[in-house]
Amino acid sequence: MPDNNRIIIFDTTLRDGEQALPQSLSARQKLQIALALEELGVDVLEAGFPISSKGDFDSVSQIAATLKRTIPCGLSRCVAKDIEAAGEALRAAKHFRIHTFIATSTIHVRDKLRKSFDDIVEMARKSVKLARTYTDDVEFSCEDAGRTPIDELCRMVEAAIDAGATTINIPDTVGYTLPMEFGGIITNIMNRVPNIDKAVLSVHCHNDLGMATANSLTAVQMGARQIECCMNGLGERAGNTSLEEIAAALNVRKGYFKDLECGIVLKNIARTSSLVAKICHEPVPPHKAIVGSNAFAHSSGIHQDGVLKNRQTYEILTPESVGFKGNNMRMTARSGRHMIRTCLQNLGYIADKDYDLDDIYNRFLKLADKKGQVFDYDLEALVFFTKEGINDDDAYRLDRLNVMSGSDMMATATVRLLAGKRTRTDSCVGNGPVDAVYNCITRLTGVRCKLTSFEITAAGAGMDALGQVNITVDYNGRIFHGMGLATDVIESSALALLHAINNIERTKRIQELREPPKKVEELVSEAKA
Ligand code: KIV
Ligand code: ZN
Repeated sequence: MPDNNRIIIFDTTLRDGEQALPQSLSARQKLQIALALEELGVDVLEAGFPISSKGDFDSVSQIAATLKRTIPCGLSRCVAKDIEAAGEALRAAKHFRIHTFIATSTIHVRDKLRKSFDDIVEMARKSVKLARTYTDDVEFSCEDAGRTPIDELCRMVEAAIDAGATTINIPDTVGYTLPMEFGGIITNIMNRVPNIDKAVLSVHCHNDLGMATANSLTAVQMGARQIECCMNGLGERAGNTSLEEIAAALNVRKGYFKDLECGIVLKNIARTSSLVAKICHEPVPPHKAIVGSNAFAHSSGIHQDGVLKNRQTYEILTPESVGFKGNNMRMTARSGRHMIRTCLQNLGYIADKDYDLDDIYNRFLKLADKKGQVFDYDLEALVFFTKEGINDDDAYRLDRLNVMSGSDMMATATVRLLAGKRTRTDSCVGNGPVDAVYNCITRLTGVRCKLTSFEITAAGAGMDALGQVNITVDYNGRIFHGMGLATDVIESSALALLHAINNIERTKRIQELREPPKKVEELVSEAKA
C-alpha cells in the first residue's frame, strides 16, 4: 500500500484528453507529451486505448518502452480482446497498469449495455482476473459512478477488489455531482465496502458543471488517494479535472490538506501547459486558472498599487513558482499613478526630476482611452513628446506592396515605403509571402528584430472580415508590439511589422534625446584616455 499522505497523480491527457480533440495526435506528438508529463512528475500516465486502433496500440507500446519513472497505463472495456491488447501493448514496460471499466449507473446498464446488474458484476470480475494475468497493477472503473445507486456501487467495488483490482476509480463521468454529494459517495465507499483497505481509491471527475477540481479535492478529504486529471483541463466535453489546478491547490493550501502531497514539479507547469496547448492546437483560455495569460495579470489601479507594495495582497501563488517569468502589470485606463511612476522608474526616469507625474498621468489616461493597452515604450514617448497621437510621427509608411507566390516557386515581394518625403523600394524572396515581405521591410528600414509571436485573426464575420495580425518582436532584448488590419492578410502582416518598427524608431529617437550622440572631439579624447 502506498504512503497515505501521498496523492497519486494519474494523467489522462493522452486518452480522455486526446479523444476530445478535433483531430488525433501522431505517435511522435504523443511521445513528446508523455516525456514532458514524466518530467512534470506524473505518477501514472494513461497512454491510450490500445484496442481502438493500430495507431493507438503502437503509440501505447512506444510510450511504455520509453518511460522510466512514470507507470504507463492502457484502457480497456470489460472485454477479453481489449484487455489482451492492453497487456500486449504495455508489455515493454517493467511495471505497467491495465485500466478496465464498465458502466454501473441504471441508465447506462439498462439503456446502453442492455444487461442486468448481475451480468455486469460478473463481467467486471472476469475482466479484472484476466488483467491480473498480465500485471499486478489493475485499475477498475465504475463508469458513471456519480449517478449509480450507492448500494450497487458498493457491491461492484467490493466485487472488483475481491477479483484483484488494486485501484478502484470512481468517475463522475458526466460531471453531474456537487462537491459535498461526491464527497458523500467516497465516504460511503470508505465506510461500507469491507475490503476497501486492499485498494487505492481514485476519482475521475468531468467538468460539465465546472465542479471537477472541487469534486476531486473534496474526495481527497474523504479518503481518495488518486486523482485522474488532464493538463489544461482537456477531456471529453467540458474537460476533466485540470492537473495544474490540483497541484497548485495542494501546494497553496498545504495546511488545509494536512500536508497531503503529490509529486508534481510545480516549476514545470508553465512549459508543459504550453507544449500540450501547441501540440493539441488547443489554446489555453486567457482566464484559465494557473496557466491562462490573465492568471497573473493585474489591471485595476487598486490591485496594481497593492501588488507593488506587497505581491501577496493579490497573488496567492507566484507566477515564478509555476514556471512563468513574472506577473503582468497591464497599463490601461484603470491603472493608477503608482503604476505609472514605477514603470517609468524601471526605465530610469525619476518623477519631478525627469517628468511631472500629474502631467504624464493625464496624458497617459488619454492615450490609454485611445489605444486600450499602453506599453512601456509608449509611456517613455510621453516623457519626450508632448502630443498623445504618438503615431503621427511614424518613420515609415507602407506605400505599395506586390507579392508573387505559388506552390512551385519562391515567394517574391516588392515593397515601397514612404520614409518622410522620400520613397524606398526593394524586392526580396522568402519562404512564403510573409517572409518575403518581412525581408524587404527589414532591408528597407535596416531594423533587424526577431519575430517572437505572430497571430492572425479574422476581425468581423464572413466575406467582409478583415485580417488582423498582431505581432511581438524582440529588438536588443526589449519587446515591441505591432498590429495590422487590412482585407489582405499579407498587407496586415506588413502593416504589423511596420507598426512595431515605428515603435522601435521612436524609442531610438528617445534614446538620442536622453543621451545626445557624442561629438567627434569627445570620442577622440575618450579613445586617448
Ligand atoms: O469518464 C469516464 O468515466 C471515463 C472512464 C473510462 C474512466 O473516462
Ligand atoms: Zn472520463
